[in-house]
Amino acid sequence: FQYPAPANEPVLSYAPGSPERAGLKKQLAAFKAEVADIPMYIGGEEVRTGETVDLRPPHEIKHKLGHFHQGKESHVKDAIAAALAAREKWANMDWEQRAGIFLRAADLIATKYRFHINAATMLGQSKNPFQAEIDSACELIDFLRFNVHFLSEIYRQQPVSAPGIHNRMEYRPLEGFVLAVTPFNFTAIAGNLPTSAAMCGNVVVWKPANTQVYAANIIMKVLIEAGLPAGVINLVYAGGPLIGDICFADPNFAGIHFTGSTGVFQTMWKTIGQNIHKYKSYPRIVGETGGKDFVLIHKSADAGIAATALARGAFEYQGQKCSAASRAYLPDNLAADIKSKLVADLKTMKMGSTEDFSNFVNAVIDEKSFDKIAQYIENAKKDPKAKIIAGGNYDKSVGYFIEPTVIETTDPNYVTMCEEIFGPVLTIYTYEADKFDEILVTVDSTSEYALTGAIIAQDRYAIELATRKLANSAGNFYINDKPTGAVVGQQPFGGARASGTNDKAGSMLNLYRWLSARSIKETF
Ligand code: ALA
Repeated sequence: FQYPAPANEPVLSYAPGSPERAGLKKQLAAFKAEVADIPMYIGGEEVRTGETVDLRPPHEIKHKLGHFHQGKESHVKDAIAAALAAREKWANMDWEQRAGIFLRAADLIATKYRFHINAATMLGQSKNPFQAEIDSACELIDFLRFNVHFLSEIYRQQPVSAPGIHNRMEYRPLEGFVLAVTPFNFTAIAGNLPTSAAMCGNVVVWKPANTQVYAANIIMKVLIEAGLPAGVINLVYAGGPLIGDICFADPNFAGIHFTGSTGVFQTMWKTIGQNIHKYKSYPRIVGETGGKDFVLIHKSADAGIAATALARGAFEYQGQKCSAASRAYLPDNLAADIKSKLVADLKTMKMGSTEDFSNFVNAVIDEKSFDKIAQYIENAKKDPKAKIIAGGNYDKSVGYFIEPTVIETTDPNYVTMCEEIFGPVLTIYTYEADKFDEILVTVDSTSEYALTGAIIAQDRYAIELATRKLANSAGNFYINDKPTGAVVGQQPFGGARASGTNDKAGSMLNLYRWLSARSIKETF
């Protein structure tokens, strides 16, 4: 069975007067009118503990959207037991049958639950409708369909045979269970991490970020409606350390599929290392862990392209993409022009609730993020090496709103040029246009991360030089574009260094990590 490469799911425009705008608005109103009671899903059962955590839109913190039921140690253990109980049948099912479930889930999102999942992402994670559409609808649908395609390609790869010998490869799932730990910032990533492992025949314990539970609940309901058997994916809500401690101490722990912070990933890796003697097999450790993504502008660049790459790359979804542009290098011949275009562009960006579709900027995810980002801005206001040239104001009385902020620095190693902020803050540094070789070294060495980056230039020699010298500085490298918005099947996504294991989400490379192949030789 071969599943050909699908087309990417078309992005709906939500233009004024369009039926999709009306449909999405209706769903937003319906969600606002109810208080959702969100259970865990363990072994196909909805589990309610009575210990609940409230969910509120980050842009409207006085409104209660609902609450979810928080699990204890016993629920995590139940989730592992349910996964292991489901494993034998699931792992041995014809993979075409498994694929059918995920393809059906993709179709359900495309046709029946598109507005549900977009509205949930808009309310729960404060994403504007256009960003929600490309994430929670299109990218999630693409992950599901493309991964079926990639898996069908993997299964077809077979060794040669010889006279009297028949060789074959059997792509088995891992022996045990996989833990998926997913972030708030992309509903698509939250859906992809558990489903990509499950599609390969693995059973999964899934722990989403608390701030993403509202949309995670919809993904789980879609998977159940698509026919996912009980216990294959178990959705649990409990503290990360609690879940980690229990899962990593279990001899059946077979792998982790993670997107989140570098610090958490490194702590997990250490814990797994300390427990290594306990496991049946060496666990697969797959993680995507943030970035300090750059835009390098060459003296030959088109200033308009550069300014747009900065405005969109840094401030879409309030800069809360691991791929977001957060440090930029401007050549002195173009710096004034680019800055004035950028500042003018930012003035057109309205900020407010996601329910008003004309707002480009919404709130950051929670109070902890708000306080951290605000602190960076306050420090910059006081530092002689930094100057705020746009934004700089913030207010959490209604929601966690922070203006798109541009800090200009005279020091290429200024703290906001180096540290990941994960918010709407871009730092720019102007370099001598004729010292391009030197700035390439600075770009490569300033940050420990290597997720995304962009070169904006018209000069082909400059593009070629940057591509070569920055070979290890970004896993996703863009020429004359912003460094965000990788499309599944078009730009496989992930980076190395402190940004992760570079197992490229939405590619065969990622799926191989969830397979443990058996080589079978038969002689006649
Ligand atoms: N895959 C997301 C992007 O490229 C993070 O922006």
